[in-house]
Amino acid sequence: MSANVEILFEPFTVKGVTLPNRIVMAPMTRRKSPGNVPGADVAAYYRRRAEGGVGLIITEGTFINHKAANGYDSVPDIYNPAALDGWKHVIEEAHAGGAKIIPQLWHVGAQRVKGTEPDREVPGYAPSAVATGERDVPIAMSKDDIKDCITAFTEAAVNAREVGFDGIEVHGAHGYLIDQFYWERSNQRTDEYGGSFENRNRFGKEIVESIRAAVGPDFLIVYRFSQWKSDDYEAKIAKTPEELERFLKTLTDAGVDVFHASTRRFWEPEFEGSDLNLAGWCKKLTGKPAITVGSIGLDDPSWAGANSTDVDVLVKRMEKGEFDLAAVGRQLLSEAEWANKIREGRYQEIEPYTKKSLSGLN
Ligand SMILES: Cc1cc2nc3c(=O)[nH]c(=O)nc-3n(C[C@H](O)[C@H](O)[C@H](O)COP(=O)(O)O)c2cc1C
Repeated sequence: MSANVEILFEPFTVKGVTLPNRIVMAPMTRRKSPGNVPGADVAAYYRRRAEGGVGLIITEGTFINHKAANGYDSVPDIYNPAALDGWKHVIEEAHAGGAKIIPQLWHVGAQRVKGTEPDREVPGYAPSAVATGERDVPIAMSKDDIKDCITAFTEAAVNAREVGFDGIEVHGAHGYLIDQFYWERSNQRTDEYGGSFENRNRFGKEIVESIRAAVGPDFLIVYRFSQWKSDDYEAKIAKTPEELERFLKTLTDAGVDVFHASTRRFWEPEFEGSDLNLAGWCKKLTGKPAITVGSIGLDDPSWAGANSTDVDVLVKRMEKGEFDLAAVGRQLLSEAEWANKIREGRYQEIEPYTKKSLSGLN
């Protein structure tokens, strides 16, 4: 049972945004936005988590205004007027519940297949004509396609600011478009967007630079990245701390305020010779605030002592200053009030996460 959880519930301020506490809701795609419009149900879903004590909500991935950005039906967009009206309501509800909220900006790249909304004739677009998993071979992006996507990410960020979000998160993780540029296997380009480490980092850098120029110096930009890909959990884009430093410096110089280091188990060290996890390395190498994530509050058989109430390891690492914020994904699906129950020591009342919790995503 957790002793002192106070640090999790201290406020945290970044870029003028004061989060009431350190618990973040991780972005989780729900596919419950018919016509790509987030409706009343979406607003109520996020309000329940805000009232349940989450400090910052990162929304499910929202797709940007490029014909091939979306990968799944009933995912919300962040450019059509009806969707933007829907988001205004979501923001009001999240704020009324006491949380801050930012949208995750998403382009799925090669993970799109023909037959998906909004234009079902459009195939996947990716850095190179390399299929992911069993999917069709995508179109290799031209320089104009690259420019269009940078513009679409930028416009999405401007839309987010205009409808009242507290910042944005760029989805640079999990083997989607931006991450496909980072990874040698999916990026086989021979122009300035492929080949060397620096060239593969260029697309992500240009997206952040363009967003920063458009939204101004004061709007919060969170950047999510991962080593792992959804079809290769062992992949690494930064194989050493030195490479990670170069990767992060490019993004810091471009204008990132907070790094969201996506890992599957937060307690696992990132590199040999140190206990630091990926978020810990981000903070150490950049001095920027970092969000950790991965199996917080879950019953993980690979980790003795992990369960939905035990946050001791998380608390200890946060107290040491390894990272500043902790994102919780699946546990918040089964238990919207997880944060409040942890704070108040109501451990017996916590509804544990099971795979069944995924079927409702409510
Ligand atoms: C149903 C579901 C949907 C997800 N959708 C997204 C997404 O849209 N964007 C993203 O970056 N990560 C997504 N993730 C990953 C989560 O944000 C999180 O990193 C992952 O679930 C690990 O955290 P957890 O162990 O606390 O669940 C999703 C995860 C789940 C379970």
